[in-house]
Amino acid sequence: MIRFDILTLFPDMFQSPLASSVLKKAIDRGVIKVRVFNIRDFTMDKHRVVDDSPYGGGSGMVMKAGPIVEGIERLKSTNGSPRVILMTPQGVPFDHSQAKRLSQYDHLLFVCGRYEGVDERVRGYVDEEVSIGDYILMGGELAVMVVIDAVSRFVPGVLGSEESVLEESFANALLEYPQYTRPRVFRGKRVPEVLISGDHRQITHWRRREALKRTFIRRPDLLEKVNLSEGDLALLEEIKREEREARDN
Ligand code: ADE
Repeated sequence: MIRFDILTLFPDMFQSPLASSVLKKAIDRGVIKVRVFNIRDFTMDKHRVVDDSPYGGGSGMVMKAGPIVEGIERLKSTNGSPRVILMTPQGVPFDHSQAKRLSQYDHLLFVCGRYEGVDERVRGYVDEEVSIGDYILMGGELAVMVVIDAVSRFVPGVLGSEESVLEESFANALLEYPQYTRPRVFRGKRVPEVLISGDHRQITHWRRREALKRTFIRRPDLLEKVNLSEGDLALLEEIKREEREARDN
């Protein structure tokens, strides 16, 4: 079981992603627990102000430290000791191994920034900062959903079969092989014969080769990180030769 708590100014944004498909089922089964808190509920003033103009001038608004820190502390005092994560494009890039690492915690508390940023002094109250990529979102909400989705897949009981997480892309640092389902012929395009052959050794070989080929063509950078067997290296040489020939023709 893993618990995700979220501090946000827009709790509604979390409704539908959590109410569909695998995440919904995991929540229903109690394998993951998600609670969403409105940062505005941790303000102390009459007008419930959550942002203000930046010291030193400039455009836009900055989220005030007070309500966020109050929220973090209140959730900590009533809920044990969550790992506190600030979502920001300035954070550590999120990837497969980060998802796996975060899935080892039993309680994560995400803080969603909005507007031009959060008061710098909030940083003293978070354990780590996470970015989901080199682009600026309107706020951390969608980023949190991405992280919860990816982390949950490593939590036992969330997916049907545990092995599917281990087998897939990036675990062994190759892109996935192509998949097909019925019909055998779709608009003139046939399913590769080998997949219908029933020859499981051949199928495994074909899939490995296709995974190598796809990775070589689309993400050659990944091939540098992965441990390839002698057989893989031989296949890769074959693939490179084929690609060269295709290019030269
Ligand atoms: N908030 C805004 N942009 C973000 C990003 N790329 N990653 C995480 N949080 C964000």
